[in-house]
Amino acid sequence: MLITFEGIDGSGKSTQARLLEAYFHRQGCETLLVREPGGPPLAERVRALLLDGDVAISPFAELLLFSAARAQLVAETLRPALNAGTIVLCDRFYDSTTAYQGGGRGLADPVWLDAFNRRVTDGLVPDRTYLFDVPLEVAAQRRSGRDAAGPDRMEAGGDPFFVRVREAYLALAEREPQRLCVLDGTRSPEELHEQVVSDIQPRVQIPS
Ligand code: ADP
Ligand code: TYD
Repeated sequence: MLITFEGIDGSGKSTQARLLEAYFHRQGCETLLVREPGGPPLAERVRALLLDGDVAISPFAELLLFSAARAQLVAETLRPALNAGTIVLCDRFYDSTTAYQGGGRGLADPVWLDAFNRRVTDGLVPDRTYLFDVPLEVAAQRRSGRDAAGPDRMEAGGDPFFVRVREAYLALAEREPQRLCVLDGTRSPEELHEQVVSDIQPRVQIPS
């Protein structure tokens, strides 16, 4: 089973991914938590390039780099883990590309991007996706408490960029209501974790 976590930077999704990983461990489930972009050596190197504010990257090159990192993650890590029956938790997946490159950078229409994303993941689609929706000010406040180094290359897009990203996420949730579950990210971490657990429990086989 593949479960993904989405939202703008500082929405609290990594916190929820870690809480759900700990929950599954307590239940005795084999679990793997990965973050995007990242994982295999190729993806980690691409990540460093993508977040480096000193490297100029055109919007289309950005789309291809995020996608290259993802294609490698799917082939090297996700497919083998899923084939072995592991519950895979992914902190961001291709919905981030739809929201950030599609919406934020205004790069491509959703139909084209959907088809492109399917090619990149070799048809791998998350079983469930949690979208943590927060107002921009809340996310910015949380980021400032977390990132001593200041904004990375993606965060430097500022408010207008994040408005478009958030809108693209919400539009996506309307297009795919069966897969995406939108949660109010301004709730406490504990409350959100409870909501995630009660949503995922009936969808997962927990060993007895
Ligand atoms: P993201 O992965 O979406 O960028 P994080 O999970 O890293 O966000 O959270 C960003 C910051 O906000 C961290 O300092 C974290 O402790 C804090 N945080 C996470 N979730 C919540 C929440 N529900 N309410 C308040 N603060 C939160
Ligand atoms: P990261 O530090 O992991 O951000 P966060 O903690 O918010 O997840 O940085 C990843 C950045 O890359 C983030 O700004 C979102 C962006 N991104 C894209 O623009 N497109 C993508 O396909 C992915 C996976 C991430």
